[in-house]
Amino acid sequence: MIVLIGYMGSGKSTVGKVLAKQLEMDFIDFDNYIEAKENRSIPEIFKQKGEVYFRNKETQYLGELLDENPNVVVSLGGGTPCFGTNMQTIVEASPNVFYLKLSVDKLISRLKPEKAYRPLIKDIADADLSEFIRKHLFERNFYYMQAPHIVNVVNQTPEELAAEVSEKLS
Ligand code: S3P
Repeated sequence: MIVLIGYMGSGKSTVGKVLAKQLEMDFIDFDNYIEAKENRSIPEIFKQKGEVYFRNKETQYLGELLDENPNVVVSLGGGTPCFGTNMQTIVEASPNVFYLKLSVDKLISRLKPEKAYRPLIKDIADADLSEFIRKHLFERNFYYMQAPHIVNVVNQTPEELAAEVSEKLS
């Protein structure tokens, strides 16, 4: 199993899809997996049930996903590695865990236009968004940096990033 982690907007799903195609493996977007299990979208889950409910379900489904799908490419949610013992579960499940690491400025410029679709940042004023992302990423880096592989994303295309991941597979 190949697992992609990283902050919102880091391109996990895009790169994951390309990688799965290159390797002729199935691809699972974990957000979509949760949405299918819960029969509603992630924004709806946050709105109707709250973040605590979402995080509990996320941990439960992470266990199921890692148990059931040994030979797939998975892109996780941005917060998945950062709650409970999830990161430990992830690194124990596979040696092929890749952190797609982008600069905070790049993340800010990618996320600003799509704020509305992302429950964690949709209510943050544009003026406060940079500071929020900066702090949030700093906290989350503690978890992300436990990945055995770190891919520095600068200007590579998804195809180039997928190739970088492929070269490091064990
Ligand atoms: C989240 C990221 C989202 C989704 C949810 C929470 C987070 O996934 O799981 O909105 O805590 O960073 P993406 O990183 O795929 O956008």
